[in-house]
Amino acid sequence: MIILAPSVLGADFKNLESELKAVSSAGAQYIHLDVMDGDFVPSISFGMPLISSIRSCTDKVFDVHMMVKEPYRYIKEIRQCGADLITVHAEACLHLDSTIKVIRKNGAKAGVAINPSTPISVIDLILPFVDMVLVMTVNPGFGGQERIPYTLDKVYRLRKRCQERGIPMDIQVDGGVTLDNVREFLDAGANVIVSGSAVFKGDAAGNTRKFLEIFKEYPQSV
Ligand code: DX5
Ligand code: ZN
Repeated sequence: MIILAPSVLGADFKNLESELKAVSSAGAQYIHLDVMDGDFVPSISFGMPLISSIRSCTDKVFDVHMMVKEPYRYIKEIRQCGADLITVHAEACLHLDSTIKVIRKNGAKAGVAINPSTPISVIDLILPFVDMVLVMTVNPGFGGQERIPYTLDKVYRLRKRCQERGIPMDIQVDGGVTLDNVREFLDAGANVIVSGSAVFKGDAAGNTRKFLEIFKEYPQSV
């Protein structure tokens, strides 16, 4: 299934409820929530209080992207705030295997993210134990950046590797995805599309519908 995950970072924070309702009723399946600690990435975004207070605005999947060093410290709490899917960075976890286990033990789906310069070989051994791989297509930390072209080849090679191993993996891309370039990511094999500015700039519901219209051109299985 091809999934749109609008990133709240691109939304108007003083109108979060209406922004979330707009993308949800237009058909977005996930809500992408970027948690930044000012240490793993240069910026600080938001954390548990915001996630729990917006949980009741929508019944869509809360897809929490932890840009945080040693995220295992927060998994239980993030899950209690309403996260359905928790993604941690391979680069931020000294013990990635244990961290993935903690996510699953808390009843959430587990994702692993890799930065643009991290090779896919780093996560090869963990693939059978995660529900999703997030291939960062910008350096994490800020919305509104241009995608880094070489990351597309990583998506392509990761999809191929999962197919060779018979793993029906969700592959998420995040950063610089727009209505004009989203087909490049889908062609490479991504099926979970994060978009912040391209969804929330202007008409969020209309932009959501345009993304979903493009998704219909592609087979829905991974
Ligand atoms: C960047 C975040 C992204 C960001 C994407 O570090 O992980 O989720 O919100 O924003 P756009 O789509 O504007 O690049
Ligand atoms: Zn993100």
